[in-house]
Amino acid sequence: PNTPLIDRFGRVHTSLRISVTDRCNIRCFYCMPLENVRFKPRDELLTFEEMTRVVRVAAGHGINKLRLTGGEPLVRSNLSQLIRMLKQVPGIQEIALTTNGILLTDQAADLKSAGLDRLNVSLDALGEEMFERITRRQGVQKVIDGIVAAQAAGFRDIRLNAVAIQNLTEGEIVPLANFARENDLHLRFIEFMPLDADRAWDRNQVLSGRQLREIISREVTPLHDDDRPDKSQPAIDYQYVDGRQRVGFINSVTEPFCGTCNRLRITAEGQLRNCLFGVEEWDTRPILRNGGTDVDLSERLHDCVQAKKPSHGMDSPEFVPPERAMYQIGG
Ligand code: GTP
Ligand code: 5AD
Ligand code: SF4
Repeated sequence: PNTPLIDRFGRVHTSLRISVTDRCNIRCFYCMPLENVRFKPRDELLTFEEMTRVVRVAAGHGINKLRLTGGEPLVRSNLSQLIRMLKQVPGIQEIALTTNGILLTDQAADLKSAGLDRLNVSLDALGEEMFERITRRQGVQKVIDGIVAAQAAGFRDIRLNAVAIQNLTEGEIVPLANFARENDLHLRFIEFMPLDADRAWDRNQVLSGRQLREIISREVTPLHDDDRPDKSQPAIDYQYVDGRQRVGFINSVTEPFCGTCNRLRITAEGQLRNCLFGVEEWDTRPILRNGGTDVDLSERLHDCVQAKKPSHGMDSPEFVPPERAMYQIGG
């Protein structure tokens, strides 16, 4: 009954990424459409009780790490309450959150006291003008204030996520690296993936981890050799030779890390996914809402894991990006 979630390629799944809403308070072009966004009606989203039930069952199969995502998770009301509930689930060792930081100033202390273990903040540009071009909203200062508030609330080892775009964000790379080093943040650059709602992704817009690393070592400070302490994590980390912080690169496009993937996802409306780029989903909501059993949930989890492909297959001529965009999947 408590069988681990091992797929056909021997990958053991221990991490679950839970999208708590598809809504967001900004509109990053690599994720959301600018206008006419069709959000899910409230009653289609899983309740906190339903999410907690899924997590309890998943923890029975070896899931020990949770990450809350969105949309923007902090726009879901009472998120701290969910964290409190998930904290109680036996087997859950770490709860992390990925946020755009806009609402962090208000919520950081609450999240900390609810027991949130780790925080990743997305910030692609420090310049107000570039921030607005990317997010199509204002707010870079709110994000910076939010990071400061989170540090004051006691969060340590905050990671900064920066999506890098060719012919657009080059001017932000060095400022972001310096900002991270000055503020004791672990910066990771992310390659642009074909998950934008507008379907405008183009390989020529990918600024590769290799290019980024060269820029950083030339213009900021040289880097030591790579080091990926936890093989299942997406980022390859490099220590600066002066010992001041490290910088990571999430090279999903040019150096896929699918071979060591340990992640499952569940969307805000309860669809299980075995890959960011998966085209299939396994619905938990009929089980949760129509009197299904925990055994039914276990079966869904195993079905989802068993169907997992060896890799996202982005380089194959048959590759089609998933129907849903990043904000609908959860990142
Ligand atoms: P840490 O636990 O702090 O390492 O977090 P994380 O990097 O796993 O999660 P985060 O939400 O900060 O994601 C950073 C970037 O990595 C985002 O662009 C994610 O979409 C991407 N990412 C996370 N997991 C996967 C994955 O399984 N496959 C791919 N291709 N990208 C992923
Ligand atoms: N490619 C790469 N990263 C993306 N993110 C959102 N959309 C994309 C994309 N198309 C990032 C966000 C956030 C994380 C959850 O995913 O910036 O840091
Ligand atoms: Fe919102 Fe995150 Fe998508 Fe940006 S990437 S629009 S912050 S959900």
